[in-house]
This record gives sequence, C-alpha cells and structure tokens, in this order.
Amino acid sequence: MKRIAILTSGGDSPGMNSAIRAVVRTALVGGMSVVGVERGYQGILDKAFRELHMRSVSDIVQRGGTILRTARCVEFHKPECQDIAIANMREEGIEGLVVIGGDGSFRGAQALSNKGFPTVGIPGTIDNDLAYTDFTLGFHTACNTCIDAIDKIRDTSSSHNRFTIIEVMGRHCGDIALYTGIAGGAEMIIIPEVPRTFSEIKKNLIEASQKGKTSGLVVLAEGVCGADELMRYLQRETNLSIRATVLGHQQRGGSPSMRDRVLGAQFGYHAVGLLKKDIGNRVVGISKSKIIDMDIDEALSMPKKFQKELYRMAGIISQ
Ligand code: ADP
Ligand code: F6P
Repeated sequence: MKRIAILTSGGDSPGMNSAIRAVVRTALVGGMSVVGVERGYQGILDKAFRELHMRSVSDIVQRGGTILRTARCVEFHKPECQDIAIANMREEGIEGLVVIGGDGSFRGAQALSNKGFPTVGIPGTIDNDLAYTDFTLGFHTACNTCIDAIDKIRDTSSSHNRFTIIEVMGRHCGDIALYTGIAGGAEMIIIPEVPRTFSEIKKNLIEASQKGKTSGLVVLAEGVCGADELMRYLQRETNLSIRATVLGHQQRGGSPSMRDRVLGAQFGYHAVGLLKKDIGNRVVGISKSKIIDMDIDEALSMPKKFQKELYRMAGIISQ
C-alpha cells in the first residue's frame, strides 16, 4: 500500500490527535502518503480530503479534540453511500483507511472492509465500552477530569454535611462511573450493569447516614437515569441534604493524559503496520498491557465483560 487515509468519527476523545500524529509519521517514514479526511465519514462523501505532511501534525500531541474534526453521518448506513465513499477514495488514489472512533464508527469500517476496501479501526471513545480492548483512547483522561471535579465536590459536600449525586457519561457501559467512583472514594456507584431501584438507593444512603457518615458522593452513570430525577426523589423521601451535578461534555475535552498520548501513539503505529502489509478488516487494542489487533467482525461480536470483582470491591471499601 502506498497511499492511505485517516479520519475521526463519532464522539471525540482525548488522545485522538496523538493517534493521528503517529499514523501520519509512521506512514510517511514507511514511504506511504497520507490523506486526512475532515469530519468523519461525511468527509469522504464530500471529498473533504487534505494531504498530511510531517509538519501538518506538529504541536498537536498535547491537544484535546481532533484536528480532523468529527461528525455523525447518518447517510453512511446506506450501502450505496459506502460505494460512493469507496469510489471517492479510489479516485484520490487511496488504498487503505484508518478509522478512529467507537463501535458505531467500527461498523462503518466493517462495511468498507466487507466491500473490499481495507480498513483498520483505532478505539477512540471515552466510554471504554469495547469488549475486545482493555482500554479505549480517552477513557483515562476523561476519568482524570471526573476525579478533579469529584474531589472539589467532596470538599463542599463535607462542609455542608451533604450527599451529592454526580452524573458522569456512559450510556450502556458504567466504566467511567465505576473507576472514578473507586478513585474518588464514592459512597455509592450506580451503573447500568447493576440495576438498582430508587428505594434501594434511598435505603443505602439512610443506612450510611445512620452509620455515622455525615456526607457522601454518589457517582451515577448517565445511562441509568438523570441525576436531577434521583435528587428530587431523595429530597422528597429523606431528611438528608441532597444536591446533584452533571459533569457533561467537559469529560470529552482537555489535554490528554500521558497514558492516552502513549496509547494513541502505539495504536496509530500498529494500525499503519497492518495497512503496510495490506491487512484490513482489523481493529487495534490493548490486552494485558500488549498492543493487539483483531478481526473487526470478531471484536464487534464480543459482549463487554462486566468487572464484577471491581464493583464488589468498591462496595466493600465504601463502608
Ligand atoms: P461512535 O463511533 O462514537 O460509537 P456513532 O455510533 O455515533 O459513534 O457512529 C459514528 C458514525 O459511524 C455514524 O454517524 C455513522 O456515520 C457510522 N456508523 C455507525 N453505525 C454504522 C453502521 N451500522 N453502518 C455504517 N456506518 C455506521
Ligand atoms: O460516546 C461517547 C459519549 O460521550 C457518551 O458517553 C455520551 O452519551 C455521548 O457521547 C454524547 O454525545 P453527543 O452529545 O456528542 O451527542
């Protein structure tokens, strides 16, 4: 392969720029040229292509977001649009594609590979919701952003003898809530993987207060319910002082952590290695501290394993 393209798609995540930089420089050093596609799959349909050089990716490793920008492109679900995308790339002399994104973006990459266009996926999402990789790019930074906020909220909660619900991102996967709940010393972690009724949550908080806790934090994954709804219920049903905070999109931005910068570099380097050997239909990841790659179909069919033991431990150490 002599010419490849790269795009970022779906929700952005810190570390995407590090991966873009690694892809561009590894490819150029290896004698390939690189085309940057603006705004995800939409950019292929719009032919929003630009040549990327060594200096195009200078001064970006420390920046959050993505220099290629990102988009959600509904049209790309249609097979006829995927055919147009392949024709547009071939017209540009592009022979392979690197897609940085989450599971939705990987389904687009899978469709292109199935139609004979070699595509490699890099897991870029703060949610950590892809089963085949231990960690996705951006998860570590997003968790650190949450921890900063959680620590600050803890100060004011304990000054006021108050319980605060902190809503973090994660629609189907509670990993951000689980990890930040442990790291932030939360009294309770509420995630989609372990359904709990409002009355169980009420009971637990009343018990915590009876055991002598004068304040506390509840870390709630957005996929369960809204923090406001839970706050209103607890204010109605208990005598405790309750507040709620939604951390929102700040979790997706900010300078990537050392971990996400290095992971982005490793993912990008590995992805180009595959395309250089004309290997497509793969996704890269990390498993037991080793960079791996796997067939896209296999990776997307794996159910995400819930870390029961970590959740159990969190319950014990929050007593
Ligand atoms: P993420 O990649 O973060 O999971 P989305 O689920 O929003 O984000 O997907 C990003 C984009 O990937 C979509 O807007 C669409 O362009 C493409 N995509 C998602 N699912 C499919 C699919 N089944 N077939 C083709 N393209 C898809
Ligand atoms: O997929 C990542 C994610 O950050 C989710 O946790 C969140 O629900 C969603 O994206 C929000 O996406 P947006 O507001 O960009 O549509």
